[in-house]
Amino acid sequence: MTEHKVICWDCGSETEDPYVYTCPKCGGLLMVKMDLEPVKEMRPEDLRKEKLGVWRYAPFMPVDPLHKVSIQEGGTPLYKTDGLAWEVGVSEVHVKFDGLNPTGSFKDRGMTVGVSRAKELGAKIVGCASTGNTSASLAAYAAKADIKCAVFLPSGKVAAGKLAQALFYGAKVLSIDGNFDEALDLARKMADERRLYLLNSINPYRPEGQKSVLFEIIDQLDYEVPDRIILPVGNAGNISAVHKAIQELQEVGWIDKVPMLTGIQAEGASPISKAFSAGKDDFIPEEDPETIATAIRIGNPVSGRKALRAIYDTGGFSATVTDDEIIDAQRLLGKREGVCVEPASAASIAGLIKLVSMGVIDRDERVVCICTGNGLKDPDTIIKNSPPPIPCGNSVEEVERILSR
Ligand code: F0G
Repeated sequence: MTEHKVICWDCGSETEDPYVYTCPKCGGLLMVKMDLEPVKEMRPEDLRKEKLGVWRYAPFMPVDPLHKVSIQEGGTPLYKTDGLAWEVGVSEVHVKFDGLNPTGSFKDRGMTVGVSRAKELGAKIVGCASTGNTSASLAAYAAKADIKCAVFLPSGKVAAGKLAQALFYGAKVLSIDGNFDEALDLARKMADERRLYLLNSINPYRPEGQKSVLFEIIDQLDYEVPDRIILPVGNAGNISAVHKAIQELQEVGWIDKVPMLTGIQAEGASPISKAFSAGKDDFIPEEDPETIATAIRIGNPVSGRKALRAIYDTGGFSATVTDDEIIDAQRLLGKREGVCVEPASAASIAGLIKLVSMGVIDRDERVVCICTGNGLKDPDTIIKNSPPPIPCGNSVEEVERILSR
Protein backbone atom coordinates (compact mmCIF):
# COMPACT_ATOMS: atom_id res chain seq x y z
CA MET A 1 0.00 0.00 0.00
CA THR A 2 1.17 3.53 -0.75
CA GLU A 3 2.06 5.49 2.39
CA HIS A 4 -0.22 8.36 3.17
CA LYS A 5 -1.47 10.67 5.88
CA VAL A 6 -4.64 12.62 6.48
CA ILE A 7 -4.10 16.37 6.65
CA CYS A 8 -6.23 19.47 6.81
CA TRP A 9 -6.92 21.05 3.42
CA ASP A 10 -7.01 24.46 5.12
CA CYS A 11 -4.26 24.54 7.77
CA GLY A 12 -2.19 21.49 6.78
CA SER A 13 -2.08 19.88 10.23
CA GLU A 14 -2.15 16.10 10.38
CA THR A 15 -5.03 14.10 11.88
CA GLU A 16 -4.61 10.58 13.19
CA ASP A 17 -8.08 9.90 14.58
CA PRO A 18 -9.90 8.01 11.78
CA TYR A 19 -13.31 8.93 13.19
CA VAL A 20 -13.11 12.70 12.70
CA TYR A 21 -14.25 14.24 9.43
CA THR A 22 -13.06 17.82 9.86
CA CYS A 23 -9.81 19.20 11.22
CA PRO A 24 -9.76 19.08 15.04
CA LYS A 25 -7.55 22.22 15.04
CA CYS A 26 -9.37 24.59 12.66
CA GLY A 27 -12.55 22.80 11.56
CA GLY A 28 -11.29 22.71 7.95
CA LEU A 29 -11.86 20.03 5.31
CA LEU A 30 -9.65 16.94 5.44
CA MET A 31 -7.73 15.36 2.59
CA VAL A 32 -5.45 12.39 2.04
CA LYS A 33 -1.85 13.24 1.21
CA MET A 34 -0.26 10.36 -0.69
CA ASP A 35 3.46 9.68 -0.67
CA LEU A 36 3.89 9.31 -4.42
CA GLU A 37 7.69 8.90 -4.42
CA PRO A 38 7.47 5.15 -5.26
CA VAL A 39 5.01 5.88 -8.10
CA LYS A 40 7.51 8.26 -9.68
CA GLU A 41 9.63 5.18 -10.44
CA MET A 42 6.74 3.67 -12.41
CA ARG A 43 5.33 4.28 -15.90
CA PRO A 44 1.63 4.30 -16.87
CA GLU A 45 2.22 1.05 -18.81
CA ASP A 46 3.11 -0.71 -15.55
CA LEU A 47 -0.49 -0.26 -14.39
CA ARG A 48 -1.94 -1.72 -17.58
CA LYS A 49 -1.13 -5.24 -16.39
CA GLU A 50 -4.24 -4.87 -14.22
CA LYS A 51 -7.62 -4.75 -15.94
CA LEU A 52 -9.24 -1.32 -16.35
CA GLY A 53 -11.06 -0.30 -13.17
CA VAL A 54 -10.54 1.48 -9.86
CA TRP A 55 -7.95 -0.96 -8.52
CA ARG A 56 -5.72 -0.65 -11.57
CA TYR A 57 -4.69 2.58 -9.86
CA ALA A 58 -3.96 0.97 -6.47
CA PRO A 59 -0.62 2.84 -6.15
CA PHE A 60 -2.71 6.04 -5.92
CA MET A 61 -5.10 4.57 -3.32
CA PRO A 62 -4.66 4.87 0.45
CA VAL A 63 -6.09 1.45 1.36
CA ASP A 64 -4.34 -1.90 1.51
CA PRO A 65 -5.82 -4.05 -1.31
CA LEU A 66 -5.81 -6.85 1.30
CA HIS A 67 -9.03 -5.33 2.67
CA LYS A 68 -10.47 -4.72 -0.76
CA VAL A 69 -14.28 -4.76 -1.01
CA SER A 70 -15.00 -4.76 -4.73
CA ILE A 71 -17.89 -5.45 -7.10
CA GLN A 72 -15.72 -4.70 -10.16
CA GLU A 73 -16.32 -0.97 -10.27
CA GLY A 74 -14.86 1.42 -12.82
CA GLY A 75 -13.65 0.35 -16.25
CA THR A 76 -16.61 2.19 -17.79
CA PRO A 77 -16.68 3.10 -21.49
CA LEU A 78 -15.38 6.37 -22.89
CA TYR A 79 -17.54 6.88 -25.97
CA LYS A 80 -16.33 9.06 -28.82
CA THR A 81 -19.65 10.74 -29.49
CA ASP A 82 -19.31 12.13 -33.02
CA GLY A 83 -23.07 12.59 -33.42
CA LEU A 84 -23.22 14.74 -30.30
CA ALA A 85 -20.10 16.64 -31.37
CA TRP A 86 -21.74 17.42 -34.69
CA GLU A 87 -24.97 18.57 -33.00
CA VAL A 88 -23.14 20.96 -30.68
CA GLY A 89 -20.50 22.03 -33.20
CA VAL A 90 -17.34 20.99 -31.37
CA SER A 91 -14.55 19.04 -33.03
CA GLU A 92 -14.24 16.18 -30.54
CA VAL A 93 -16.53 15.13 -27.71
CA HIS A 94 -16.24 12.04 -25.53
CA VAL A 95 -18.74 10.82 -22.98
CA LYS A 96 -17.43 8.92 -19.97
CA PHE A 97 -20.46 6.84 -19.05
CA ASP A 98 -20.13 6.11 -15.35
CA GLY A 99 -23.74 4.98 -15.24
CA LEU A 100 -22.36 1.55 -16.20
CA ASN A 101 -20.85 0.96 -12.78
CA PRO A 102 -22.20 -1.96 -10.69
CA THR A 103 -24.90 0.11 -8.97
CA GLY A 104 -25.35 2.45 -11.93
CA SER A 105 -23.39 5.50 -10.78
CA PHE A 106 -19.89 6.90 -10.28
CA LYS A 107 -20.33 6.57 -6.52
CA ASP A 108 -19.08 2.97 -6.70
CA ARG A 109 -15.56 4.28 -7.40
CA GLY A 110 -15.44 6.09 -4.08
CA MET A 111 -17.36 3.43 -2.23
CA THR A 112 -15.04 0.53 -3.04
CA VAL A 113 -12.23 2.50 -1.38
CA GLY A 114 -14.40 3.94 1.40
CA VAL A 115 -15.90 0.60 2.44
CA SER A 116 -12.49 -1.11 2.15
CA ARG A 117 -11.25 1.52 4.59
CA ALA A 118 -14.25 0.84 6.88
CA LYS A 119 -13.32 -2.84 6.85
CA GLU A 120 -9.68 -2.05 7.55
CA LEU A 121 -10.84 -0.03 10.59
CA GLY A 122 -13.25 -2.76 11.71
CA ALA A 123 -16.24 -0.38 11.57
CA LYS A 124 -19.46 -1.99 12.84
CA ILE A 125 -21.90 0.31 11.07
CA VAL A 126 -21.53 2.60 8.07
CA GLY A 127 -23.84 5.38 6.99
CA CYS A 128 -24.38 8.32 4.67
CA ALA A 129 -26.84 11.01 3.72
CA SER A 130 -27.76 10.93 0.07
CA THR A 131 -29.84 12.25 -2.78
CA GLY A 132 -29.95 8.58 -3.81
CA ASN A 133 -26.87 7.34 -5.59
CA THR A 134 -24.46 7.40 -2.66
CA SER A 135 -26.96 5.44 -0.59
CA ALA A 136 -27.54 2.87 -3.35
CA SER A 137 -23.81 2.39 -3.66
CA LEU A 138 -23.04 2.26 0.05
CA ALA A 139 -25.89 -0.21 0.62
CA ALA A 140 -24.39 -2.54 -1.99
CA TYR A 141 -20.80 -2.36 -0.74
CA ALA A 142 -21.91 -2.70 2.91
CA ALA A 143 -23.84 -5.83 1.90
CA LYS A 144 -20.76 -7.20 0.16
CA ALA A 145 -18.59 -6.42 3.22
CA ASP A 146 -21.25 -7.70 5.65
CA ILE A 147 -21.33 -4.43 7.58
CA LYS A 148 -24.54 -2.88 8.89
CA CYS A 149 -25.66 0.20 6.95
CA ALA A 150 -27.95 3.20 7.55
CA VAL A 151 -28.82 5.75 4.88
CA PHE A 152 -30.38 9.18 5.46
CA LEU A 153 -32.59 10.27 2.55
CA PRO A 154 -34.55 13.49 1.98
CA SER A 155 -38.16 12.34 2.19
CA GLY A 156 -39.97 12.19 -1.16
CA LYS A 157 -37.01 13.51 -3.17
CA VAL A 158 -35.13 10.37 -4.13
CA ALA A 159 -35.62 8.84 -7.60
CA ALA A 160 -37.42 5.49 -7.61
CA GLY A 161 -34.55 3.34 -8.83
CA LYS A 162 -32.17 4.65 -6.18
CA LEU A 163 -34.64 4.14 -3.35
CA ALA A 164 -35.35 0.63 -4.61
CA GLN A 165 -31.63 -0.17 -4.56
CA ALA A 166 -31.07 0.95 -0.95
CA LEU A 167 -34.09 -1.09 0.16
CA PHE A 168 -33.03 -4.06 -1.94
CA TYR A 169 -29.51 -4.28 -0.53
CA GLY A 170 -30.90 -4.34 3.01
CA ALA A 171 -29.82 -0.95 4.37
CA LYS A 172 -31.81 0.75 7.12
CA VAL A 173 -33.45 3.42 4.98
CA LEU A 174 -34.25 6.53 7.03
CA SER A 175 -36.60 8.98 5.37
CA ILE A 176 -35.64 12.37 6.80
CA ASP A 177 -38.00 15.26 7.18
CA GLY A 178 -35.77 17.75 5.36
CA ASN A 179 -33.62 18.20 2.27
CA PHE A 180 -30.22 16.61 1.57
CA ASP A 181 -28.27 19.27 3.46
CA GLU A 182 -30.38 18.63 6.56
CA ALA A 183 -30.09 14.86 6.20
CA LEU A 184 -26.31 15.27 6.01
CA ASP A 185 -26.30 17.39 9.18
CA LEU A 186 -28.07 14.56 11.00
CA ALA A 187 -25.76 11.87 9.62
CA ARG A 188 -22.76 14.00 10.65
CA LYS A 189 -24.13 14.31 14.19
CA MET A 190 -24.36 10.53 14.38
CA ALA A 191 -20.81 10.24 13.11
CA ASP A 192 -19.49 12.90 15.51
CA GLU A 193 -20.98 10.88 18.36
CA ARG A 194 -19.15 7.89 16.88
CA ARG A 195 -22.34 5.93 16.32
CA LEU A 196 -21.48 5.23 12.70
CA TYR A 197 -18.61 5.45 10.22
CA LEU A 198 -19.61 8.19 7.78
CA LEU A 199 -19.12 7.53 4.08
CA ASN A 200 -20.16 10.80 2.53
CA SER A 201 -17.47 12.52 0.49
CA ILE A 202 -16.46 14.55 3.55
CA ASN A 203 -14.70 11.32 4.53
CA PRO A 204 -11.32 11.88 2.85
CA TYR A 205 -11.01 8.24 1.72
CA ARG A 206 -14.08 8.37 -0.53
CA PRO A 207 -12.74 10.96 -3.01
CA GLU A 208 -9.57 8.86 -3.29
CA GLY A 209 -11.55 6.19 -5.15
CA GLN A 210 -13.32 8.83 -7.18
CA LYS A 211 -9.96 10.02 -8.52
CA SER A 212 -10.04 6.89 -10.68
CA VAL A 213 -12.47 8.38 -13.19
CA LEU A 214 -9.81 10.90 -14.19
CA PHE A 215 -7.08 8.26 -14.25
CA GLU A 216 -9.26 6.14 -16.54
CA ILE A 217 -10.15 8.97 -18.91
CA ILE A 218 -6.48 9.85 -19.38
CA ASP A 219 -5.57 6.17 -19.71
CA GLN A 220 -8.32 5.60 -22.31
CA LEU A 221 -7.07 8.63 -24.27
CA ASP A 222 -3.53 7.19 -24.20
CA TYR A 223 -2.32 10.07 -22.03
CA GLU A 224 -3.36 12.71 -24.55
CA VAL A 225 -4.93 15.06 -22.02
CA PRO A 226 -8.22 16.58 -23.26
CA ASP A 227 -8.70 20.35 -23.26
CA ARG A 228 -11.72 20.26 -20.99
CA ILE A 229 -13.65 17.98 -18.67
CA ILE A 230 -17.26 18.87 -17.90
CA LEU A 231 -19.11 17.40 -14.94
CA PRO A 232 -22.18 18.03 -12.83
CA VAL A 233 -21.63 19.53 -9.37
CA GLY A 234 -23.81 18.79 -6.35
CA ASN A 235 -22.04 18.21 -3.07
CA ALA A 236 -18.81 18.95 -4.99
CA GLY A 237 -16.92 15.83 -3.99
CA ASN A 238 -16.42 14.57 -7.52
CA ILE A 239 -14.95 17.68 -9.13
CA SER A 240 -12.59 18.01 -6.13
CA ALA A 241 -11.52 14.37 -6.52
CA VAL A 242 -10.90 14.83 -10.25
CA HIS A 243 -8.78 17.89 -9.49
CA LYS A 244 -6.75 15.95 -6.93
CA ALA A 245 -6.18 13.18 -9.49
CA ILE A 246 -4.87 15.74 -12.00
CA GLN A 247 -2.49 17.15 -9.40
CA GLU A 248 -1.20 13.67 -8.58
CA LEU A 249 -0.59 12.78 -12.24
CA GLN A 250 1.35 16.02 -12.56
CA GLU A 251 3.31 15.23 -9.40
CA VAL A 252 4.44 11.84 -10.75
CA GLY A 253 5.21 13.46 -14.10
CA TRP A 254 2.76 11.46 -16.19
CA ILE A 255 0.98 14.51 -17.64
CA ASP A 256 2.18 18.00 -18.43
CA LYS A 257 -1.10 19.57 -19.42
CA VAL A 258 -4.18 20.25 -17.31
CA PRO A 259 -7.78 19.93 -18.53
CA MET A 260 -10.06 22.87 -17.76
CA LEU A 261 -12.46 21.59 -15.13
CA THR A 262 -15.93 22.83 -15.87
CA GLY A 263 -18.61 22.35 -13.23
CA ILE A 264 -22.29 22.53 -14.15
CA GLN A 265 -25.08 23.11 -11.66
CA ALA A 266 -28.86 23.20 -11.95
CA GLU A 267 -30.20 26.75 -11.90
CA GLY A 268 -32.23 26.08 -8.74
CA ALA A 269 -29.26 24.68 -6.82
CA SER A 270 -26.24 26.68 -7.86
CA PRO A 271 -24.15 28.12 -5.00
CA ILE A 272 -20.88 27.20 -6.74
CA SER A 273 -21.77 28.70 -10.11
CA LYS A 274 -22.91 31.90 -8.39
CA ALA A 275 -19.66 32.14 -6.43
CA PHE A 276 -17.69 31.54 -9.63
CA SER A 277 -19.59 34.27 -11.49
CA ALA A 278 -18.79 36.64 -8.62
CA GLY A 279 -15.12 35.62 -8.64
CA LYS A 280 -15.33 34.42 -5.01
CA ASP A 281 -13.42 31.50 -3.52
CA ASP A 282 -16.20 30.74 -1.03
CA PHE A 283 -19.94 30.35 -1.63
CA ILE A 284 -23.18 31.36 0.03
CA PRO A 285 -25.33 28.33 0.94
CA GLU A 286 -28.83 28.20 -0.58
CA GLU A 287 -31.79 27.42 1.68
CA ASP A 288 -34.30 25.79 -0.64
CA PRO A 289 -32.53 24.13 -3.56
CA GLU A 290 -34.89 22.80 -6.23
CA THR A 291 -34.35 21.00 -9.54
CA ILE A 292 -35.64 18.10 -11.56
CA ALA A 293 -32.09 16.70 -11.25
CA THR A 294 -32.69 15.52 -7.69
CA ALA A 295 -29.18 14.03 -7.46
CA ILE A 296 -27.73 17.55 -7.38
CA ARG A 297 -30.50 19.23 -5.39
CA ILE A 298 -28.00 20.56 -2.87
CA GLY A 299 -27.67 24.07 -1.42
CA ASN A 300 -24.70 23.72 0.92
CA PRO A 301 -22.05 21.60 -0.80
CA VAL A 302 -19.58 20.14 1.67
CA SER A 303 -16.63 20.41 -0.72
CA GLY A 304 -17.75 23.68 -2.30
CA ARG A 305 -14.52 25.53 -1.56
CA LYS A 306 -12.46 22.68 -2.97
CA ALA A 307 -14.62 22.77 -6.11
CA LEU A 308 -14.00 26.47 -6.62
CA ARG A 309 -10.26 25.93 -6.20
CA ALA A 310 -10.43 23.13 -8.78
CA ILE A 311 -12.15 25.40 -11.28
CA TYR A 312 -9.85 28.40 -10.77
CA ASP A 313 -6.62 26.36 -10.68
CA THR A 314 -7.36 24.63 -13.99
CA GLY A 315 -8.64 27.73 -15.78
CA GLY A 316 -12.06 26.10 -15.94
CA PHE A 317 -15.56 27.49 -15.72
CA SER A 318 -18.88 27.05 -13.97
CA ALA A 319 -22.36 27.65 -15.33
CA THR A 320 -25.96 26.81 -14.56
CA VAL A 321 -28.50 25.04 -16.74
CA THR A 322 -32.28 25.04 -16.45
CA ASP A 323 -34.40 21.95 -15.90
CA ASP A 324 -35.66 22.23 -19.49
CA GLU A 325 -32.09 22.37 -20.82
CA ILE A 326 -31.28 19.27 -18.74
CA ILE A 327 -34.22 17.31 -20.16
CA ASP A 328 -33.42 18.41 -23.74
CA ALA A 329 -29.79 17.33 -23.30
CA GLN A 330 -30.82 14.00 -21.79
CA ARG A 331 -33.04 13.29 -24.81
CA LEU A 332 -30.41 14.45 -27.32
CA LEU A 333 -27.84 12.06 -25.86
CA GLY A 334 -30.33 9.22 -26.06
CA LYS A 335 -31.44 10.01 -29.60
CA ARG A 336 -27.99 10.73 -31.05
CA GLU A 337 -25.80 8.30 -29.14
CA GLY A 338 -28.04 5.63 -27.63
CA VAL A 339 -26.86 6.58 -24.16
CA CYS A 340 -29.42 6.92 -21.37
CA VAL A 341 -28.27 9.03 -18.43
CA GLU A 342 -30.11 10.44 -15.44
CA PRO A 343 -30.98 14.17 -15.33
CA ALA A 344 -28.03 15.22 -13.13
CA SER A 345 -25.65 13.57 -15.58
CA ALA A 346 -27.33 15.26 -18.52
CA ALA A 347 -26.38 18.55 -16.86
CA SER A 348 -22.85 18.10 -18.21
CA ILE A 349 -24.20 17.77 -21.78
CA ALA A 350 -26.54 20.73 -21.26
CA GLY A 351 -23.52 22.67 -19.97
CA LEU A 352 -21.52 21.76 -23.06
CA ILE A 353 -24.29 23.04 -25.33
CA LYS A 354 -24.69 26.25 -23.36
CA LEU A 355 -20.99 27.06 -23.08
CA VAL A 356 -20.43 26.49 -26.80
CA SER A 357 -23.24 28.92 -27.57
CA MET A 358 -21.80 31.41 -25.06
CA GLY A 359 -18.41 31.16 -26.78
CA VAL A 360 -16.71 29.89 -23.60
CA ILE A 361 -15.91 26.57 -25.26
CA ASP A 362 -13.95 26.84 -28.53
CA ARG A 363 -15.17 24.80 -31.45
CA ASP A 364 -11.78 23.10 -31.83
CA GLU A 365 -11.60 21.82 -28.26
CA ARG A 366 -11.37 18.16 -27.26
CA VAL A 367 -13.99 17.80 -24.57
CA VAL A 368 -14.88 14.98 -22.19
CA CYS A 369 -18.28 15.04 -20.48
CA ILE A 370 -18.62 12.84 -17.43
CA CYS A 371 -22.07 11.29 -17.23
CA THR A 372 -22.32 10.16 -13.66
CA GLY A 373 -25.48 8.06 -13.43
CA ASN A 374 -27.70 5.70 -15.40
CA GLY A 375 -31.03 6.92 -16.80
CA LEU A 376 -32.78 3.86 -15.37
CA LYS A 377 -32.25 5.32 -11.90
CA ASP A 378 -35.05 7.77 -12.57
CA PRO A 379 -37.62 6.25 -14.92
CA ASP A 380 -40.39 8.59 -13.72
CA THR A 381 -38.66 11.67 -15.16
CA ILE A 382 -38.13 9.92 -18.49
CA ILE A 383 -41.73 8.74 -18.72
CA LYS A 384 -43.05 12.17 -17.77
CA ASN A 385 -40.98 13.83 -20.50
CA SER A 386 -41.61 11.32 -23.27
CA PRO A 387 -44.66 10.88 -25.50
CA PRO A 388 -46.98 8.31 -23.88
CA PRO A 389 -47.32 4.75 -25.17
CA ILE A 390 -49.79 4.55 -28.06
CA PRO A 391 -52.97 2.62 -27.32
CA CYS A 392 -53.22 -0.14 -29.86
CA GLY A 393 -55.64 -3.01 -30.12
CA ASN A 394 -54.38 -6.34 -31.23
CA SER A 395 -54.43 -6.41 -35.01
CA VAL A 396 -52.00 -5.93 -37.90
CA GLU A 397 -54.33 -3.30 -39.38
CA GLU A 398 -54.17 -1.15 -36.26
CA VAL A 399 -50.40 -1.42 -36.05
CA GLU A 400 -50.13 -0.41 -39.70
CA ARG A 401 -52.51 2.48 -39.23
CA ILE A 402 -50.39 3.78 -36.34
CA LEU A 403 -47.05 3.28 -38.09
CA SER A 404 -48.22 5.07 -41.22
CA ARG A 405 -49.26 8.22 -39.31
N1 F0G B 1 -24.31 13.15 -10.63
C1 F0G B 1 -25.02 12.25 -9.94
C2 F0G B 1 -25.76 11.22 -10.69
C3 F0G B 1 -25.02 12.29 -8.52
O1 F0G B 1 -25.69 11.37 -7.85
C4 F0G B 1 -24.30 13.30 -7.86
C5 F0G B 1 -24.27 13.37 -6.41
C6 F0G B 1 -23.58 14.21 -8.65
C7 F0G B 1 -23.62 14.12 -10.02
C8 F0G B 1 -22.78 15.31 -8.05
O2 F0G B 1 -21.60 14.83 -7.51
O3 F0G B 1 -21.95 15.56 -5.17
O4 F0G B 1 -19.72 14.85 -5.98
O5 F0G B 1 -20.71 16.99 -6.75
N2 F0G B 1 -24.95 12.63 -5.67
C9 F0G B 1 -24.83 12.57 -4.20
C10 F0G B 1 -25.65 11.43 -3.65
C11 F0G B 1 -25.05 13.85 -3.52
O6 F0G B 1 -26.04 11.48 -2.49
O7 F0G B 1 -25.85 10.46 -4.37
P1 F0G B 1 -20.94 15.61 -6.28
